[in-house]
Amino acid sequence: MLPPRRPKWYSPPGSARTAFGGAYEPVDGVAKRHGRAGPVGRMMERTTSGTGGAETIRAAARLSIAPMMDWTDRHCRYLHRQITARALLYTEMVTAPAVIHGDRDRLLGFDAAEHPVALQLGGSDPAELADATRIAGDYGYDEINLNVGCPSDRVQSGCFGAVLMERSGLVADCVAAMIAAAPVEVTVKCRIGVDDQVPEAVLPAFLETVSAAGVSRFAIHARKAWLQGLSPKENRDIPPLDYPLVVAMKQAFPGLHISVNGGITTLDQAEAFLADGLDGVMIGRAAYHEPYDALVDADRRIFGGALAPDRFEVVERMRPYIASHLETGGRLHQVTRHMLGLFHGQPGARGWRRVLSERANAPGAGLDVIDAALAPMRDLAA
Ligand SMILES: Cc1cc2nc3c(=O)[nH]c(=O)nc-3n(C[C@H](O)[C@H](O)[C@H](O)COP(=O)(O)O)c2cc1C
Repeated sequence: MLPPRRPKWYSPPGSARTAFGGAYEPVDGVAKRHGRAGPVGRMMERTTSGTGGAETIRAAARLSIAPMMDWTDRHCRYLHRQITARALLYTEMVTAPAVIHGDRDRLLGFDAAEHPVALQLGGSDPAELADATRIAGDYGYDEINLNVGCPSDRVQSGCFGAVLMERSGLVADCVAAMIAAAPVEVTVKCRIGVDDQVPEAVLPAFLETVSAAGVSRFAIHARKAWLQGLSPKENRDIPPLDYPLVVAMKQAFPGLHISVNGGITTLDQAEAFLADGLDGVMIGRAAYHEPYDALVDADRRIFGGALAPDRFEVVERMRPYIASHLETGGRLHQVTRHMLGLFHGQPGARGWRRVLSERANAPGAGLDVIDAALAPMRDLAA
């Protein structure tokens, strides 16, 4: 592999590299999945009101929950919103052609309680992305984000996602078209580079070019994507994280709002990044697998707000939402599959997961399955 070339601005004063040491070490093993995702739940609702201007969203972006395909659907986001009232939530990536030609309400509908919520689009055709942005704008998203980080084969074949790190001019054209069509801020989520690119050279050039086209907020997954030879899952773990490079980008581009993403599992890590000058922290897998542990104290520590309600109260808050999902023909499992990690680490957590996994998928499964899963948890907590 090439030795990294370090431009002059790379080493922040005061030997920041050593200061980054252990506190930011990624914790392995969070990437295990709780089974394959089923079809995205029914999407019936349109909302037309955002939560307000760019400043509100920027404040929310101090902590965001990453876009994750098959995972951060509307039900997952609704659950996260019961734990944090303030963090910015991202949708799964939706491709621009799907928005234009697909079932828009299913792909774009969300619950008003999810605000502030950002839609992530995938694509590389400026006109298509502009159309998709215009359509999505009607749904009331607070932000539209362009995916320049996803390495899956499907995404590569359509020439979008991380492969666009090699085509910053095209990304600039895409975001310019999106900005012209968007009623809200357009942002970019990217990698530090792909394949043999030298991140210390490529990333600042990318930020320069794309910000010149009008984007001033970026979420940077602090590792390269290897487009050949690694699976999407491996691409989230194997290429090494380079947090100092992301911190250096903030120092090199102080006018940009920069969030760091990748391997962050605790609020301690998040606070350390914010203290180092980054504007935001984006958490992905940890927020999915252990939503309560990851987010319980987020509003208080990151936003100066309140502690989350306890786990049982979170379940209570999900009940009316689930009831209305069931009433409109949805399946219990579509919501509860995101709730499996809610009691992570608590006595009885395995039983909670087992009851939901075994029974929520049955035809006609209803709220009594949640009662059955919850009763032993209450006994154990008493
Ligand atoms: C199941 C899954 C699906 C993902 N889908 C997307 C996606 O649609 N768009 C995107 O930009 N990143 C996607 N990612 C990457 C995450 O947004 C994030 O960058 C990555 O998981 C690293 O953050 P983490 O270590 O906090 O999980 C996905 C990750 C996972 C685990």
